Amino acid sequence: MNALAEGLISRFEKREAQVGIVGLGYVGLPLAVEFADEGFSVIGFEVSESKVKSVNQGRSYVGDVPSDRLAACVGAGRLEATLDYGRLGEVDAICICVPTPLNKTGDPDVSYIISVTESIRKTIRAGQVIVLESTTYPGTTRELMLPALSDDGRLEVGEDFFLAFSPERVDPSNPVYGIRNTPKVVGGISEACCEVARALYSTVIEKVIVVGSTEAAELTKLLENTFRSVNIALANEMSIVCDKLGVDVWEVIEAASSKPFGFMKFTPGPGLGGHCIPVDPHYLSWKMKTLDYKTRLVELASEINAEMPRYVAEKAADLLNAQGKPVKGAMVLVVGAAYKRDTADTRESPALDIIQLLAGKGAQVSYHDPLVPSLAHEGQDLESVPLSEALLAESDVIVIVTDHSAIDYNLLRRCGQPILDTRNVMGRKGSPAVAAARVG
Ligand SMILES: NC(=O)c1ccc[n+]([C@@H]2O[C@H](COP(=O)([O-])OP(=O)(O)OC[C@H]3O[C@@H](n4cnc5c(N)ncnc54)[C@H](O)[C@@H]3O)[C@@H](O)[C@H]2O)c1
Repeated sequence: MNALAEGLISRFEKREAQVGIVGLGYVGLPLAVEFADEGFSVIGFEVSESKVKSVNQGRSYVGDVPSDRLAACVGAGRLEATLDYGRLGEVDAICICVPTPLNKTGDPDVSYIISVTESIRKTIRAGQVIVLESTTYPGTTRELMLPALSDDGRLEVGEDFFLAFSPERVDPSNPVYGIRNTPKVVGGISEACCEVARALYSTVIEKVIVVGSTEAAELTKLLENTFRSVNIALANEMSIVCDKLGVDVWEVIEAASSKPFGFMKFTPGPGLGGHCIPVDPHYLSWKMKTLDYKTRLVELASEINAEMPRYVAEKAADLLNAQGKPVKGAMVLVVGAAYKRDTADTRESPALDIIQLLAGKGAQVSYHDPLVPSLAHEGQDLESVPLSEALLAESDVIVIVTDHSAIDYNLLRRCGQPILDTRNVMGRKGSPAVAAARVG
């Protein structure tokens, strides 16, 4: 390792380095606060003016970052947010946490990574380490970022600047695992790139695992999320199988989980949401298509999971039909709009599709979510309605989509209306069983 690399590592160890976080969202803001809390001077780079303003006023918009913690970092002058990309040259380390969604045709959209790389190219200097954290297809760091940062021949990777990939593993609202105690995988373009990136993350993360290449690190993340997509797809398919066999899928999964080896419990549900599990497997299958290989299992799992909202809407229609009621004009209450429990994130949430499908059949659909006060989706603007006996009494069917802890399930238990419980929250141990229809 050369003096530049050693110098950087020593500045990390002494907490003297300046850290830049590009993209202050669900991933970037918690990371920025973690580094600031560790004593580093941190600059957050954003394109959203409102987020820059909120951060600099110490007002958090991410559930996992309490405002008082953010305010303390900003107040101490250790964290500031900016729209000024010219300042990228000031920082010693740059962690990139920008979105990697799918475009309209369902293919990877790496335009955010490209635009950030272009901004870094304009200010890059010797002695900087750049780490891509956004989930992406294997090869992005080496094939897309490296040429843009080094093609002018001014700086050499692994000698003058350092480039690595380190997947983000944040699990929003996870009560046990946060940034510090979730092991971090790092893969660099060169050995020096690995060592410098390892030294950076070792300042805020207990365990850092170095893999042999940026591609291995990129693929690690895709495997983690595709593993979930495939196993959730199996659980979803099992719920349809059980429904057709008249067997309780939750009982079957609970029983199978009693096996102390060789089985891992996954549960069915209304469909996947968020920007990770429904999206990331497509990054893998797209990349493999460019190499003329079809990832059949990966794609099939995505298909099965994507069909679940429609299956849920059909089950709700069945429940209405059992009462002799048409969907058209029926009062349908959707409980939960966020894509998962105890988060306000509605991105790609199955609730959005279920609401749209039932409204599309003429149902009067309202929703209740204590964490999501309003919803705007495909031209529909909805406000969360408070849960009340009156509301439940006038609902022809109630569909539980998100099992937030803050929902009053006793009120639901007492209402006596048909309930489609896609999360089995009503049947969970310790809660008296009710005649709630469940998915599967
Ligand atoms: N949210 C999660 O649970 C999670 C978990 C693991 C991995 N990831 C991955 O992390 C990445 C970021 O996800 P997220 O959930 O934080 O997204 P997000 O949308 O919450 O945040 C991304 C932020 O980047 C900003 N941004 C966009 N373009 C920018 C640019 N050119 N320069 C600077 N900022 C820009 C946006 O304004 C936004 O604030 C994605 O690749 C995602 O797949 C997310």
